[in-house]
Amino acid sequence: MATEMTERTPERRDRILQALEKLLEIPPADTQTAMNQAAQCVLELTLADKVDVFLFEPSSTTIVAVGTSDTPMSRKQKALGLDRLPLANGGRSVEVFQTGKTFHHNRQDEDPEELPGVKHQLGVRSHIGVLIEVGGERRGVLDIVSSKPDFFTADDVRFIETVARWVGAVAHRVELVEAVTKAAVAQGRRAAAEELITILAHDMGNHLIPIRMRLELIHRRAARERASEYLRDAEAAEQSLKALGRLISDLMDVGRLEQGLFSLTRYPTDLVAIAEEVARLATTPGREVQLTGTPELVVDADPNRLRQALENLVANAQKHSPAGLPVIVDVNRQQRQDGTWALLSVKDQGPGIPPELLPRLFERFSKGPKSKGLGLGLYLVRSIAEAHGGTLTVQSEPGKGALFVVALPLVEEG
Ligand SMILES: Nc1ncnc2c1ncn2[C@@H]1O[C@H](COP(=O)(O)OP(=O)(O)OP(=O)(O)O)[C@@H](O)[C@H]1O
Ligand SMILES: [Mg+2]
Repeated sequence: MATEMTERTPERRDRILQALEKLLEIPPADTQTAMNQAAQCVLELTLADKVDVFLFEPSSTTIVAVGTSDTPMSRKQKALGLDRLPLANGGRSVEVFQTGKTFHHNRQDEDPEELPGVKHQLGVRSHIGVLIEVGGERRGVLDIVSSKPDFFTADDVRFIETVARWVGAVAHRVELVEAVTKAAVAQGRRAAAEELITILAHDMGNHLIPIRMRLELIHRRAARERASEYLRDAEAAEQSLKALGRLISDLMDVGRLEQGLFSLTRYPTDLVAIAEEVARLATTPGREVQLTGTPELVVDADPNRLRQALENLVANAQKHSPAGLPVIVDVNRQQRQDGTWALLSVKDQGPGIPPELLPRLFERFSKGPKSKGLGLGLYLVRSIAEAHGGTLTVQSEPGKGALFVVALPLVEEG
């Protein structure tokens, strides 16, 4: 029986073309809105009783009528809960999704494989089901049904197969737009968070000054009155405050780096003198920092920045070293094909860097699972090395410690 959709009249061709154009004009809003519009479009094109765009929902292994036409049969389908078809329950629509093969039946009341709810309660007689692929992936089923028997012809089937490809293209476009929008929102949120962090860090830095002065006052008073308990507490509080100060200045540096405001004040600087100072201040009982290498090595550099870089490397090494095993800081020269380099290395005998962390080790906020820090230290060290025209490299094997090397170009006199 020829249906209206297969009559080959010029008006019908026009109608189909208009409907297909409408299909592609669907704005890439959210998937549900777009798929509802697509279903309605196909309904008008086919004069069927119900059209569904079923999409697979992996979390529930169910195909779900994400888009559906606005008709009495569609509403009944929803009321019966037949707009969600678990793969486990079988039925013809699920079969199309699982096999990828088009289904066509004009007497579903006689089809033993169809779900009883679909044929008896919903009263489906004629049915075309076609796979929907999105971006080359099997993703759902375009389902078109009528309560009339013998409603669809073989021509209709071919036509619906084409329409299903168009619906897949619409879904793909919607998903791409959704993904791009989501990424843009995440990016915006991250930029706002970074700005907030920089501003907060700056304000916190200002609040630290009066606290530090008060603590010094307490410290001196405790010393004068020989109140040893207060003295110990004041010293501990000063240590914590110092750590907090370092954290804040790291955060502010990250902000400066992001805004391109990170600057160097360079002059001839003895690397060994810096290494000595950092090693001396970082050494505590059982956590020794030893210095090896050449007795003097002058580089054209910002001494404060180099100290900051070395402090970060030594702090990491000490954090990850077992007590009793020293951290070694080494300063040396290296002759390479591309010139002479000053090498500032920090070596520990700890567990080494987790291999999965290595590829992103120097990135902002990249840190190990047990870190109580922010994951900014190595990012800053690398930024400082690069600002001097140098590099930061790492060698580490699990269980065999870690070796970090800052290489700085050396312009030797003469
Ligand atoms: N010497 C080391 N031995 C083992 N793991 C290390 C060593 N140095 C760094 N790591 C690993 O690399 C991660 C990143 O180090 P990074 O210094 O950038 O951040 P952090 O120390 O966690 O925090 P922050 O330095 O901001 O306080 C650390 O969390 C740690 O897992
Ligand atoms: Mg660190």
